[in-house]
Amino acid sequence: MEFATIKGFKDILPDEAVIWQRLESEARRILRLFGFKEIKPPLLERTELFSRSIGQETDIVSKEMYSLKDSKGRGMTLRPEATASVVRAYIQHRLYQQNPIQKLFTMGPMFRHERPQKGRFRQFHQINAEIFGDPGPRSDADIIILAMSLFEAIGLSGLSLSINSLGCPECRVGFRAELKNYLLMKTDALCADCRRRAETNPLRVFDCKVEKCKGLVTGAPSILDSLCNACEEHFESLQGYLEGSNIPFALDHRLVRGLDYYNRTTFEIQTDRLGAQNAVAGGGRYDGLTRLLGGPDHPAIGFAVGVERVVALLEENAPREVGRPDIFLAALGETAQKACFRWTVELRKAGLWVEMDYGSAGLKSQMKKADRLGAHKVLMVGEDELAKGKGTLRDMESKVQKEVDLENLVLSLRAVGKI
Ligand code: HAM
Repeated sequence: MEFATIKGFKDILPDEAVIWQRLESEARRILRLFGFKEIKPPLLERTELFSRSIGQETDIVSKEMYSLKDSKGRGMTLRPEATASVVRAYIQHRLYQQNPIQKLFTMGPMFRHERPQKGRFRQFHQINAEIFGDPGPRSDADIIILAMSLFEAIGLSGLSLSINSLGCPECRVGFRAELKNYLLMKTDALCADCRRRAETNPLRVFDCKVEKCKGLVTGAPSILDSLCNACEEHFESLQGYLEGSNIPFALDHRLVRGLDYYNRTTFEIQTDRLGAQNAVAGGGRYDGLTRLLGGPDHPAIGFAVGVERVVALLEENAPREVGRPDIFLAALGETAQKACFRWTVELRKAGLWVEMDYGSAGLKSQMKKADRLGAHKVLMVGEDELAKGKGTLRDMESKVQKEVDLENLVLSLRAVGKI
């Protein structure tokens, strides 16, 4: 075929879209319980917004962005993630003036030019939640519990939560030096990118996907040993809140996450059912980002769920039913077709899923169509029925047929208890 989707991009077909709808509506329900409001930033932003927030040394900024230039030569980028845009909007519209605590969520597509594989796409979707204005560990716990509640609400089990603390800029100075020394001693064993990172941004070596680098960081010093008192207290307090809420977790000192803006708490929720792309959600605290982007110095924490990955897990046992029409109007003859068409409008206004054939097929063929669609009832109307003012209503499961008054169809269907 001449046109097909671009590599790494995919169509979400109706059967799969049903699972998306369920995930999105459960997410909206849970987000509302936690007091989050929706925000919808545009998909295209100035390139610098992302390079400054996510960091030049990250894979996302250095290799994966879909960037273009506008007619004036300014760099634009299709968002690779949503946090930077939400922070930009928070600053631009001074959302902090409405309420010192802002809880915002957004859902939609992101774009990263990564190597496509199972669970990894070039256009993928996220559900993001961000809390602005609170520096304390209780908002860390709240955001993690929100993520876990969302998975619980959609019936996903068997997930594991890993947490880490990246400390604050002060306690990270010492750790960065220690890590750099460790890496420079092993420089021959590092890939070319990591040899550079060891000098410029050693924490990024933890993200490297090259096997020899992955092996090497298992023996690297732990940031948890370098936390200052305040960061340690924050992290311990978070653990206390999680324990108190019966949320099991594991500590992972290598969890630096692939974006430079994090400080203190980072976390990831993983599955063992998706192969290498095992993170279904990830997030953390980013207290310095609003200031870095020219706004006030406001703390923040958030996370994003990877929708495709969650849908893949849900698909394993989800019913693939798109739903079934309430009623199919089977019309015979032109006058009946016209009357039935009018009734489709009326019945849909009354809230029913109504189907009717667009052609002029015979009764047998229309009954077949109704059956294929899984319609609960069929109303059969021909010239005789019209003349009598009574149609025949067939229950497609029990096969029982009844006469119904056509005079006021909505009322008469209700009267026979059929809708
Ligand atoms: P992230 O870890 O880059 O974080 O992405 C979050 C989630 O998006 C991942 O855990 C994964 O499920 C999904 N994801 C990422 N890349 C892909 C891909 N190529 N294909 C399919 N799914 C993918 C962020 O984006 C941060 N902005 C999260 C955050 C919000 N931190 C604070 N607030």
